Amino acid sequence: MSLEPVDIGLLGLGTVGGGVVHVLARNAREIARRAGREIRLLRAAARDPAKRRAEYPGLTIDGDPFAVVDDPRVAVVVELIGGLEPARELVLRAIANGKHVVTANKALIAQHGNEIFAAAEARGVTVAFEAAVGGGIPIIKAIREGLAANHIEWLAGIINGTTNFVLSRMRERGESFAAALAEAQALGYAEADPTFDIEGVDAAHKLTILASIAFGVPLRFDRVYTEGVAQITEDDLRYAETLGYRIKHLGFARRGPDGVEMRVHPALIPDRCLLANVDGVMNAVLVKADAVGTTLYYGPGAGALPTASAVVADLIDVVRSLTTDPTNRVPHLAFQPSAIDDAPALDIDAVETAYYLRLSAEDRPGVLAAITQILGAEEISIEAVIQKEPPAGAARVSVILLTHRVREARMRRALSAIEALDGVHGPATRIRVETLA
Ligand code: NDP
Ligand code: HSE
Repeated sequence: MSLEPVDIGLLGLGTVGGGVVHVLARNAREIARRAGREIRLLRAAARDPAKRRAEYPGLTIDGDPFAVVDDPRVAVVVELIGGLEPARELVLRAIANGKHVVTANKALIAQHGNEIFAAAEARGVTVAFEAAVGGGIPIIKAIREGLAANHIEWLAGIINGTTNFVLSRMRERGESFAAALAEAQALGYAEADPTFDIEGVDAAHKLTILASIAFGVPLRFDRVYTEGVAQITEDDLRYAETLGYRIKHLGFARRGPDGVEMRVHPALIPDRCLLANVDGVMNAVLVKADAVGTTLYYGPGAGALPTASAVVADLIDVVRSLTTDPTNRVPHLAFQPSAIDDAPALDIDAVETAYYLRLSAEDRPGVLAAITQILGAEEISIEAVIQKEPPAGAARVSVILLTHRVREARMRRALSAIEALDGVHGPATRIRVETLA
């Protein structure tokens, strides 16, 4: 190989950083053959530089990540610390120093990507973020490059490995939510703060990125409607199965005539759909585009080596691009910066879906009639009802309703009226149904 090796600085040696060290060492020869030159890990930073880590020949480890970013020998900085600060400052400093950046940090890209990409474009460097969405699935490349000929209509996906792992373990093995989450954490799937996974924030970060590269709109994390999985019970998983559905945590984005719809929340998906059968830590994204039709991207959504696969692929892309004119590189958000379109992000009240409702109701005449009357007044039609026989001596019964499609605002009004009924107790569980037709 005639070109000089490229030296890399790595920030973070945790789950993903450790995976990157491993892959760079194990596949060094193959990576060099693909990149056209050797990719050499020169120095790294971690909070505790003295901790025992994966071995890499000649690697120095610092406690100060800015020392790595300011090292003139480092051509590409790989940010795998996570969180917003100091990651944002480090990435902006790397860019200001004329270095290319690879990151897996979806929070950073979703919340500060507009600023970071503007800085990178001004400096003529690349910021690559394949690992930020879908772990090892090359979904960014697929949408940004593979589907570049298409008008993308919508996309839907299971984009958080931790919640998918937890829901799968609860359904398949009857494990408790807490036990399944502890297992996902031990396997390195969860965020440093797992509430990001459970409350849907991590999926909202990823959906923000997917919507931008699919529709050519700015990154607008604050406009994603976000619900997590904490309220899903084993009963809901069972009732959904009785009705022919699986409950998944879903991200959904659609470009319509009035604007862009972006939402993440649990959803009932028909059990015959491929997405309904994506289990454990696996992720999948379904993309509906006008020329190709529907395509599905499936693979491990988290974990050391799958995520390292995406990080190192970005590194190879960046190294290949070192010899190309910066103005001819693939745009960060798929569309040229001057062509980003400020289409409005729609309010959740404007969204139309079908619903699964679970209510705790008194087992006496008139209660079900009152519920259906309220739904009827909002023009919400019912597809199925399950009323479980109450256990002996119990006065309350679970009533499960499956509705046809209706606007969110109507369902919200109906639910407030239903929850105020005399014979209904506690808040209703409401999960949207997505047939993905
Ligand atoms: P970890 O918590 O496992 O690792 C974080 C690393 O960063 C640790 O090595 C830590 O040092 C180091 N670190 C933290 N703060 C500092 C600091 N201020 N200065 C220097 N080093 C610091 O995180 P992950 O590897 O799981 O995640 C990294 C990124 O990748 C996150 O953005 C995450 O969202 C993303 N990601 C993670 C996936 C996964 O499966 N885990 C999948 C896809 C993306 P020390 O080791 O000394 O504590
Ligand atoms: N915590 C994230 C998940 C890591 O579980 O999907 C991968 O982005």
